Amino acid sequence: MWEIIKQLEELRDQARLGGGRDRIDAQHKRGKLTARERLDALMDPGSFEEMDMFVEHNCTDFGMDKSHVAGDGVVTGFGNIYGRRVFAFSQDFTVFGGSLSETNARKICKIMDMAVNVGAPVIGINDSGGARIQEGVASLAGYAEVFQRNVLASGIIPQISAIMGPCAGGAVYSPALTDFIMMVKDTSYMFLTGPDVVKTVTHEEVTAEQLGGAITHTTRSGVADFAFDNDLVLLKQLRRLFSFLPSSNRAPPPIVLTGDDPKRQDPSLDYLIPNDPARPYDMKELVEKVVDNHDFMEVQAGYAKNIIIGFARLDGHTVGIVANQPMVLAGCLDIASSIKAARFVRFCDCFNIPLVTFVDVPGFLPGTQQELGGIIKHGAKLLFAYAEATVPKITVITRKAYGGAYDVMSSKHLRGDLNYAWPHAEIAVMGPKGAAEIIFRNDIRESADPKAKLQEVTAAYAKNFANPFIAARKGFIDDVIMPHDTRWRVIRGLQSMTGKKLALPWKKHDNLPL
Ligand code: HXC
Repeated sequence: MWEIIKQLEELRDQARLGGGRDRIDAQHKRGKLTARERLDALMDPGSFEEMDMFVEHNCTDFGMDKSHVAGDGVVTGFGNIYGRRVFAFSQDFTVFGGSLSETNARKICKIMDMAVNVGAPVIGINDSGGARIQEGVASLAGYAEVFQRNVLASGIIPQISAIMGPCAGGAVYSPALTDFIMMVKDTSYMFLTGPDVVKTVTHEEVTAEQLGGAITHTTRSGVADFAFDNDLVLLKQLRRLFSFLPSSNRAPPPIVLTGDDPKRQDPSLDYLIPNDPARPYDMKELVEKVVDNHDFMEVQAGYAKNIIIGFARLDGHTVGIVANQPMVLAGCLDIASSIKAARFVRFCDCFNIPLVTFVDVPGFLPGTQQELGGIIKHGAKLLFAYAEATVPKITVITRKAYGGAYDVMSSKHLRGDLNYAWPHAEIAVMGPKGAAEIIFRNDIRESADPKAKLQEVTAAYAKNFANPFIAARKGFIDDVIMPHDTRWRVIRGLQSMTGKKLALPWKKHDNLPL
């Protein structure tokens, strides 16, 4: 008996060494933690239970029969984050570069199946050279099994990917199917084919950082949602993201006692909007002043900055925030911001997270680049997402809500539950000057002083339409609220929407304009 236990402990110690001391040292030298160290930092202390520690690969080609490592390059299991159950896998770069074999794919699939069955999120820590080249099609099959599960689990359990090393090929496609991607600056990369292949095929000279670094993917491609300075910061922020999310689409989002008075007023909000409607202000400041303890976890902060998305709490309840940012492109909707916000709205809707939308939008961004890039189709994604969403939807128009963008941004007409406007709100087909130039074109042209005439008719148009009262008279705005009272009014609104149930007509699935 004692002999067996001793043997077991030896086998465990050996498995924990992965690819060996030298490779672990090399991992540390690069500023990276090992697969197991990462899981320890991610989970509540002592809560991680490893499964399949002794699994080995079954490949016999290219001398692989002489090279086995217990666990085969991926650590899988379950544990807790803030006391809540989570399943996770963490690829071990010290074992065949964390590459995916048929057997280690089976380990990942096993925990994914368990997570879906019990309704708990899956976190994947990726540090992998992709398909294990020695295994050929067996490895590709393993990837496809993982991809299939990613797709079936989508909308049922939250799936979060951490990219914590050079990830290539299949190692980036599974994360792409998940809900959020976090990357580490300078040590993590995502590309289908690396710089060498790029050079051979297209003769382009590009560094790994330029092609697939954290900054590239969080500011240019929009593939990743977050970039952090090192492994530990990422894992801490992953715990924070997790704290906002429900365990599954069958579980309510967690409630956290934040201690922030729901009736807290913020008088500075009354002075946030500049007198000149052409001048910007920082929408992020507005959001932070409204939410519990100013704690706003922004998603995709570096990409399509003309729209802000992220998670916060109101009276302890998770909400998804979507807000136009007047400081960037005057807050116009364009292709990138529409896609960014649409995906976020759909995530929140999947997981019963109410949406709070702050609107200050002068319209869709005009121009050939946008039109030829397909803004019609991409803008429609956001319209589609808001229209199909059945979670509680509360909208606050802080200033401009012009044209189609008014309709899109969670308007009453897209089943907005409570639509509020600040007194400064201007709800119209377009800005007063543009509108006056069109409808008073002849008057302006025939006037002795066209400039003065334009000013006069613009002022008249603004007086009639650049306010929230016409929309309020029609019931499109439920109330005009004081800015300092926004937090309490939104919290009251959310309380009034508790238990909302709205069924969509039966369909196999919709046909989002992709
Ligand atoms: C087997 C691999 C491997 C792989 C790396 N290794 N990738 N072994 N299969 N895919 C091994 C290396 O041989 C090496 O072993 C060890 O891991 C560390 O790799 P290094 O190259 O020394 O590390 P580094 O310089 O940091 O470079 C990391 C890397 C590079 C950028 C990931 O290894 C690389 O480019 N690997 C190949 C990437 C790739 O083309 N993968 C297949 C993609 S196709 P030793 O013993 O020498 O230390 C794919 C298909 C799925 O994934 C597609 C689905 C849609």
